[in-house]
Amino acid sequence: MFKSLGKNLLLSDDARFALKDVVKSENPILQLAKLSQMLKAGQKAEDAEILARAARQIAYDDFSIKVLTEWVDRIEAPVWHFDIIDDAIRLQAYAEALRRYVKPDMIVFEIGTGTGILSMLAVQAGARHVYTCEIQPDVAEIARQIISKNGYQDRITVINKNALNLEMGQDIPERADLFVAEIVDDTLLGERVLPLTEYARHQILKPKAILLPHTVSARGCLIKKHGLRQNYRAKTVMGFDLSPFNRFTPTELSLGRAGAEIEALSDDIELIKFDLNHDAPREATSSFRALANHDGNAEALMRWLHLDFGDGLVFENRLPQKSCWWPHIHIFPKEVPVKKGDEISFELYHNQDRLFLWPMT
Ligand SMILES: C[S@@+](CC[C@H](N)C(=O)[O-])C[C@H]1O[C@@H](n2cnc3c(N)ncnc32)[C@H](O)[C@@H]1O
Repeated sequence: MFKSLGKNLLLSDDARFALKDVVKSENPILQLAKLSQMLKAGQKAEDAEILARAARQIAYDDFSIKVLTEWVDRIEAPVWHFDIIDDAIRLQAYAEALRRYVKPDMIVFEIGTGTGILSMLAVQAGARHVYTCEIQPDVAEIARQIISKNGYQDRITVINKNALNLEMGQDIPERADLFVAEIVDDTLLGERVLPLTEYARHQILKPKAILLPHTVSARGCLIKKHGLRQNYRAKTVMGFDLSPFNRFTPTELSLGRAGAEIEALSDDIELIKFDLNHDAPREATSSFRALANHDGNAEALMRWLHLDFGDGLVFENRLPQKSCWWPHIHIFPKEVPVKKGDEISFELYHNQDRLFLWPMT
């Protein structure tokens, strides 16, 4: 096996040359892992990743090879998959939505198989068949194994493709009655829920198909930060004025990283809402206002996700609700003192990938 190692790998000449010594060594698999590390350290990331993957494929169950190559190429499956399957509130919302809307005989289409959990819930809810696509080959392969292990292989088809490349009639034999997808991230739009859902509606679904969720929104409130490890504002430290460094104060942070306890200074407000049944503009600007309900210094606007499945079934990751998604904070250029009843207006710009917002002056 080792003699032919490298024949089918798209390596640079240098890496191929180094591989000759690996093949001749006493422990070629270990040397292969070490060579991938050397290449990574030498800024040859592509060669390094190819060899790390090859080492793992050969020694699938060798834990030391997993440890040695993970530094080089760790993205077989993003680790957040463990967080999202651990988020019971998220899964309960999707499971309840599927129980409510899936009717016997329905064909379900999913974008983003992951572990296959939503597809299996859809079958449990009565779907005749689920077609689910997953862009990452390793994840798609393991999802197939999970689905077989749980006895659903005849009712779920996993397609290892980018959803945008699916061919109706070929990958999916018939148009679907219901679409389910969890393709939102902390920032709402980062996993491309808007273009992907639009594509599904136009290319894969029946005209009156049900979409789960129906709408996705960003909600928020003014906050006075409390218990933040850091306020990201440099002042005088050990007698030195470091304030010019505030040019680098971030405008947006995940609260996960900041690890904050928060105190709200306004009621919760809807910042923007997307009805997935309609095409969203490629970009747009809007505004919203936050009404202070306490006196205090507003340091930021906190925002979180709101997924609406209809009939009062919603999912939110508003603190203190713990979730796999972290709220984000938008830090103001300087603290804004507010009294109960004061309003702060914001401008919001979005494209299909991200929301940007700032207080209007
Ligand atoms: C947040 S995970 C959800 C996984 C699973 N449905 C769940 O709820 O636990 C989203 C999945 O979508 C996949 N994905 C992202 N963009 C995709 C695309 N354009 N086509 C197919 N799959 C995609 C990712 O690789 C990831 O596995």
